[in-house]
Amino acid sequence: MIDKLTTIHQKLFGTAQELRNFFAPGRINLIGEHTDYNGGHVFPCALNNGTYAVVSTRLDQNIHLYSTNFSQDNTIVFSLSEVPIKATSKSWINYPKGMCKIFLDNDYNIPYGLNIVIGGDIPNGAGLSSSASIEMLMAIILNNMYNLNVPPVSMVKWGQQVENNFIGVSCGIMDQFASMMSRKDQALLLNCTTLHYQYAPLELKDYVIIIGNTNKQRTLAGSKYNERVYECQTALQQLQQNIPIENLAQLDEAKYFQYEHLITNPIHRLRAKHIVTENARTLEAANLLKNYDLIGFGQLMNQSHISLRDNYAVTGHELDSLVNAAWQTAGCIGSRMTGAGFGGCTVSLVKQANAQEFIDKVGASYLEATGLRADFYIAGSSDGAREISQ
Ligand code: GLA
Repeated sequence: MIDKLTTIHQKLFGTAQELRNFFAPGRINLIGEHTDYNGGHVFPCALNNGTYAVVSTRLDQNIHLYSTNFSQDNTIVFSLSEVPIKATSKSWINYPKGMCKIFLDNDYNIPYGLNIVIGGDIPNGAGLSSSASIEMLMAIILNNMYNLNVPPVSMVKWGQQVENNFIGVSCGIMDQFASMMSRKDQALLLNCTTLHYQYAPLELKDYVIIIGNTNKQRTLAGSKYNERVYECQTALQQLQQNIPIENLAQLDEAKYFQYEHLITNPIHRLRAKHIVTENARTLEAANLLKNYDLIGFGQLMNQSHISLRDNYAVTGHELDSLVNAAWQTAGCIGSRMTGAGFGGCTVSLVKQANAQEFIDKVGASYLEATGLRADFYIAGSSDGAREISQ
């Protein structure tokens, strides 16, 4: 990938430049879905798929970006002296543009422009955080090219703020955190209230994680996602009239059942129930993984999917079909949707020896159920965003 991007960079910007290379990974979430913006726990790990960049400096104040991932709209130029830097309607460029803006807003000096050629190997819009990977890639580029020494967790928070305020998606902090802070062969247990985190070895013995991409376009994902955020906030506000909590994840199951009647809308009640039970499952799952109890871990993955389907309503026919097929296939001990939902990907824990058979059988059942072809990848893990030599 870097070789390809280097060749393009030289064609576009000449060969006299000193080039530096960067990478930021996408992520899967093993369990802990939609808990992040409710102050709960998440348990993601970074993929060895992500977004790469080859970068050189310019003498002027312009950022020139070229992406190999888009056939249209693939070259963008904007000036760092544009005040204020504004979002362009519906374009991938808003991620790097938003990151530049937030560095400047935080009074970091960006004295000259950059030439950046970007390319990635995460499918766009598949729920594997291609956008967070572009944000964290841009953060690490700015941080390293200008020697800014920004603490990594600040860059994570800025990435979330760009999504919330510049892009308009009210997402939590999981994706940016996973893309920046992950370590190879480890999953990351993150408390999204305190931002305390710990690594848990991804010791899967003779199992592998298979990512299944439904290839369902997630057109409504942004608006439906924001609707879930709103539903949870409303449930929380009603609970807060009687109990002193700051977020839904502070409730354990017993407390939730004691107070659920305070939530007047039955749909909002189900949303809150998902958050409370999912947070408990996530903590339990992290413990089970520590104790190498993969069977128990897989069962919690299944329960997570059921709750996302029945309580949180973010799965849909395609994700459910892919997960149902996985549940019925030999060697699979757990399967669930991963990420925001409404399409996108599943993760399944499958015995390595059954992996090919799993891909063939699940792919065939899915095609029959939906008329769509799924793509499958065996997940490999990676360190977080960084400068790389080649
Ligand atoms: C998206 C968001 C995350 C998180 C997940 C659901 O990936 O960006 O913040 O809320 O959905 O768990």
